[in-house]
Order: sequence, then C-alpha cells, then structure tokens
Amino acid sequence: MSYDLVVIGTGPGGYVCAIRAAQLGLKTAVVEKRATHGGTCLNVGCIPSKALLHASEAFEEANKHFGELGIDVGTPKLDLTKMQAFKQGGVDGNTKGVEFLLKKNKVDSYHGRGRIAGAGRVEVISDDGGNQMLETKSIVIATGSDVTRLPGVEIDEKTVVSSTGALELAQVPKKLVVIGAGVIGLELGSVWRRLGAEVTVIEYLDRVLPGMDGEVGKQFQRILAKQGMTFKLSTKVTGVAVADKGATVTVEPAQGGEAETIEADVVLVAIGRVPYTEGLGLETVGVATDEKGRVQTDSHYATNVTGIYAIGDVIAGPMLAHKAEDEGVALAEILAGQSGHVNYGVIPNVVYTFPEVASVGKTEEELKKDGIAYKTGKFPFTANGRAKANGTTDGFVKILADTETDRVLGVHIVGADAGNLIAEVAVAMEFAASAEDIARTCHAHPTLTEAVKEAALAVDKRAIHV
Ligand code: FAD
Ligand code: NAI
Repeated sequence: MSYDLVVIGTGPGGYVCAIRAAQLGLKTAVVEKRATHGGTCLNVGCIPSKALLHASEAFEEANKHFGELGIDVGTPKLDLTKMQAFKQGGVDGNTKGVEFLLKKNKVDSYHGRGRIAGAGRVEVISDDGGNQMLETKSIVIATGSDVTRLPGVEIDEKTVVSSTGALELAQVPKKLVVIGAGVIGLELGSVWRRLGAEVTVIEYLDRVLPGMDGEVGKQFQRILAKQGMTFKLSTKVTGVAVADKGATVTVEPAQGGEAETIEADVVLVAIGRVPYTEGLGLETVGVATDEKGRVQTDSHYATNVTGIYAIGDVIAGPMLAHKAEDEGVALAEILAGQSGHVNYGVIPNVVYTFPEVASVGKTEEELKKDGIAYKTGKFPFTANGRAKANGTTDGFVKILADTETDRVLGVHIVGADAGNLIAEVAVAMEFAASAEDIARTCHAHPTLTEAVKEAALAVDKRAIHV
C-alpha cells in the first residue's frame, strides 16, 4: 500500500495528526501496536485517571461533606469493582470514539508494531508474526512515552506499581507509599486516599510539583496534608523489599543521613516518564536522539532524516496530551503546505486533584531567573462569593504581568475548577492581553471566574473584594 503519510502510534499526537492530514486531502494510515487507539492518554493515562478522580471525589463528598449540605445518605459503601467498571466505560467510550473518527476520515488503520525499514517504508509486524510493508512519502513518529524505572526497584504491577497498575488495583491498599510528588503521584495518591488508603508521598526534592510555581506548590502541599496525605520531602528511596504481602521501603535524607523504613501494601513509582522508541528501527535509518532519548526535531517537527517527522511525548517539551495534539495538527498542516504552529509559551498545565492546580506561562522563579521585572496580582478564593457559597474556599489566583507593558506573563491557580478557569487566561495570553484587558472584561456573577478578574485588578492594587 502507498500513502502520503503513515503515522506510527495513535495517542493524542498520532491520531489527531492523522485526522487533520486526512481532512487536508493526504492519503493517511496509522499503525498502532495496542489493541485499541488513543495511546497512553485514553487507555492508561488521562482518561482512566480522571474517571477514578471523579468517582473517588464523589465518594469523599458523600462521606465527608454531604452532611454539611443537609443531605443524610448514611455511611456510603465503596464497591470498587463497580467503580473500576465505571472507569473502563469511560476508557472504552473514548477509544471507540477515536476508532470511529479515524474511519469517518478514511484513515486506514494497521494493528501491529511499526518499524521504520528505510526512508518511505514502514513495516507492520503483527502479534502473530505476520508482516506487511507500507510505502509512504512521509513518516510521523508518535510513539509516546513509558514509565521511568527506579534503579533496583522492579515494577510487578501488583505490589510495586506504575501508574498503569495503580489504576487497576482490585483492593484499596491500607498503606500506599508513593515515590515522586509529581502530577501522577498526587493525582493517584488522592484517588486512593479518598477511598481509604493511608498515603505517604516520598519526594527527592524539597517541594511538591517541582516544575510549578513555588508558592502554588507550598499552598497545595498544605491543602493535601490537611486532607490526610503525609509528605516526606528531601528524601530518597534506597530500596524496596517485596515480601509475601506488601513491601518495605527504605528511605534516607536526600543529602545522606540515617535510614528509616516504611511499610506499604502497595508502592507506586511515579518519578517521571521517558520517550518510547523501542523496536522502531531508529538506528537503522539514522534518526538522531538527544541525551534523554528524545527524537530530535527542528521547529517543523522534521528529524535529521528527510521524510521522517516526530511529535508528542517522544520529542522535547511538556509530556501533555494537548501539547501532542496541537503538534499533530501543526505538523499535518505543514505537510499539506500550510503554516502550522504551536505557541509553546501558552500551554496550560493542570493537576486534577481537589482542589485543582492550573498554570500557564512563566512562574515567578522563571521570571526572576530571566531578570524580567513583573507585578503580581493575587486573589484568594476565601473572598470569592461563589466559592464561599459552595464551601470551596481553598486556594488563590495569581497573575504575573510585565511591570512596564502590563502584558500577562503567567497565571497560577489553586482552587476548585482551576483547570477550567485557566482557559480564559490562556486565550487572553494568545491575544497578548494585558492584566488591564482581563480586569476590564465583564465576568459573570457569581462565578469562580470573578477571582481571575479580581487578581487582574490586584496587579495594580485595585481589587474590590479584599
Ligand atoms: P501516547 O499517548 O503515549 O501514544 C503513543 C502510542 O504509540 C501508544 O498507543 C503506543 O502503543 C504506540 N506505539 C509505540 N511504539 C509503537 C510502534 N513501534 N508501533 C506501533 N505503535 C506504537 N496528559 C494530559 O495532558 N492530561 C492529563 O490529565 C494526563 N494524565 C495522565 C495520567 C497518567 C497516569 C499518565 C501516565 C499520563 C497522563 N498524561 C496526561 C500524559 C499524556 O498521556 C501524554 O502526554 C500523551 O498520551 C502523549 O501523547 P502521544 O501521542 O505523544 O503518545
Ligand atoms: P513528574 O515529572 O510530574 O514528577 C516526578 C516527581 O518525582 C518529581 O517531583 C521528581 O522530583 C520526583 N522524583 C524523581 N526521581 C525521584 C526519586 N528517585 N525519588 C523520589 N522522587 C523522585 O512525573 P510523573 O508524576 O511520573 O508524571 C509523568 C508525566 O506524565 C508528567 O510530567 C506529565 O507530563 C504527565 N502527566 C500529566 C498529568 C496531567 O496533566 N494532569 C497527569 C499525569 C501525568
């Protein structure tokens, strides 16, 4: 078979690239080694984790907060099998949706491992060993990422789990130890804490969510601690010994010192992800990778080998589904002769806990490091009418604007629905808005979005409600 474009991997990067290319008239095929489309995100990432976050939050609401609202439902009982089935329903709905969209756009699907046999040639090796050669003008590598392993710690997906195993537990662990206070550790740690686990999070650095704004990290950690999570920061894991039942985790201060042990029923290793290029044949065709194993590309997603491109988690940049999708669209447009583009300065980042954490643009730490003079406008949800009415007053909105031009440089939110609140400021930043632009935009009352407007007013010290 001969194509204009063959995309290897149908995660958010790959399937979106294929659909956009087909819309633009390119004859397109995808190759996926998983039984279902949608990649890490739909199968074992964004979607199942958000389904469990949603369900476990509802359980915690019923358990702890319904009484305050005057609703007596007695003591809610957990049916984890049913909750896992609910999660799977969300996954199936989404993966089937992608299959439908690929068909609707006349994208051919091949199931099997894709291997680049040479420029313009992709071999598809199916599970039963059969193979097929596809000829194509362009190849897109969209093979995503895999779990980072902790040296000396074997992941068996039962006692020592990665995020994939942590999404599949058949029982609530009594004690869960999470290694890594990043986004996976805090999201999945929250799920199992809400369902009854005692959760201890071990983090090598001296803060949670190290890539995010420092003030946000501090406040967020306090909120999670108040909810019952235990944190051991500046601590390194030196060993995990698995027994018949559970495991013993040995830790010591990051800078060295006395070791201690922590008992766990389940240990979640969540220390990051690495690009996945196994079996792709990159060495054979000479595609260059960097020191972290990421496929190297230019600003148009072209690798050093003519006709081979790469997008998503397998290349540099934040490992986020929407970043992969936007790169997929941009690359398809470039291949169709248009001028696709991604603005890397405005990629929102959301942690879907309760409350949520959301940010876009520069952090205070980055602005200080770059020597950019900025003004800060901050507004707490304790002063927002809707948050008070809902009883969700934890957190704040912080807007960082250029001292001279007032242009919004970064926005950081901890609070209920922060993931949705960040969208308006992302749009504003795309349009190069000033804090004044946001402050002068009418925001509906009573909504949480008024906290964004007030933070914009606070940039010039004229917030009304504090
Ligand atoms: P992937 O989604 O990893 O897809 C790559 C696909 O390529 C896979 O299906 C794989 O099977 C296939 N493949 C690999 N090699 C081959 C080959 N040789 N032949 C054929 N097929 C191949 N991001 C967010 O933005 N929001 C979230 O809420 C979020 N939650 C997450 C939760 C968890 C637990 C995890 C692990 C990740 C989460 N992410 C989230 C990150 C998100 O999943 C990734 O950024 C996103 O999936 C990257 O998309 P991609 O298309 O680059 O790769
Ligand atoms: P992460 O990079 O977010 O966090 C890893 C944490 O582990 C960091 O705080 C790091 O300092 C710490 N760490 C590293 N080595 C350690 C060690 N040896 N001992 C103790 N701590 C150690 O990675 P995570 O949480 O695994 O997630 C991977 C990626 O998946 C994220 O970076 C993100 O791109 C994506 N993701 C996005 C989500 C979202 O958008 N809501 C949700 C889940 C994942």
